[in-house]
Amino acid sequence: MKILITGVAGFIGSNLAARLLKEGYEVVGIDNLAYGLRENVPDGVAFQKRDIRDRGINSLYEGVDAVFHLAAKNCISDCQADPIETADINVTGTINVFEAARRSGVGKILYAESSALYEGSILLPTPESAVQPESFYAVSKLAGMHFAEAFKRYYGMTFTALRYFCVYGPVQDYRRTIPPVMSAFIIKQLRGERPVIYGTGEKRRDFIYVDDVNDFHLLCLRDSRTDNETYNLGSGKNHSVFEICEIVSRLLGVRLELEHKPDLPGEAQKTLADISKASALGWKPKTDLKTGLLHAIDYIKSEMAAKRI
Ligand SMILES: NC(=O)c1ccc[n+]([C@@H]2O[C@H](COP(=O)([O-])OP(=O)(O)OC[C@H]3O[C@@H](n4cnc5c(N)ncnc54)[C@H](O)[C@@H]3O)[C@@H](O)[C@H]2O)c1
Repeated sequence: MKILITGVAGFIGSNLAARLLKEGYEVVGIDNLAYGLRENVPDGVAFQKRDIRDRGINSLYEGVDAVFHLAAKNCISDCQADPIETADINVTGTINVFEAARRSGVGKILYAESSALYEGSILLPTPESAVQPESFYAVSKLAGMHFAEAFKRYYGMTFTALRYFCVYGPVQDYRRTIPPVMSAFIIKQLRGERPVIYGTGEKRRDFIYVDDVNDFHLLCLRDSRTDNETYNLGSGKNHSVFEICEIVSRLLGVRLELEHKPDLPGEAQKTLADISKASALGWKPKTDLKTGLLHAIDYIKSEMAAKRI
């Protein structure tokens, strides 16, 4: 099968590409390198540096069996600062991907949504039905979801919506304005700098290791029960920001005083996935937090050794 990944130079896209190549799939990858890096794209991917909003790239979708649409503007604080670009990439860009896939007769689209869709919900663990977005980022993902439904309704296209919680692991983007919490703690403490806590540190997040997410991606390609369904992808457990900082400190064998900064706008206080729907298909997260964090630490150490950090 030939698979196209948008956002292939990013964290989830590059890990997915590596896994698909290993499993014998042919992989085409698109990324404009706005956030992702060319060196993240595994050898063997037919890579094109293109923007998902570019209407002249329909030919790339020809002969493609399935599209993973992962490209997005996805740092919540950056999206809050620029709702127009957020909509341009996450809504218009997404429609352009769906339309190109339709014109080329692509069999299935796997669309990256987000646990941010549950920002306003107080239901924990959160089922797929509890959609209540608040931030510009979450609203843009919801708009993409509605467009997917319309493409399904009018053109009979097949979608699977992937509602990721906090995915972590090697290649996670640590260069953005405010890096994801685990990368941020690892980098700061490896440098001997004080880790920064935004808000009280009591915020809890459901973290899921990227290989476990890839197990589910493969299941989606192989199991038609996933057609036109939406799945939470989390571990079904959550940890506070303090706990993560504490575990990272222990694994690195360092202890530095914390630096406190004001809370970030537009972020949920707690996330916890109800993963019963994905689990009913036989999928189960296998990687425990300590093992996953050790892999993430090894990656950041290797980036530091290569002087990329
Ligand atoms: N990582 C997570 O924990 C998480 C959680 C929820 C949802 N998601 C969603 O999963 C998807 C992948 O996330 P990620 O963590 O790999 O993000 P990432 O930022 O590492 O990767 C996204 C990639 O998309 C590319 N991109 C952005 N705009 C583009 C454009 N206009 N044209 C082409 N390429 C463009 C970027 O350069 C980047 O390489 C995103 O849609 C994100 O919203 C991720």
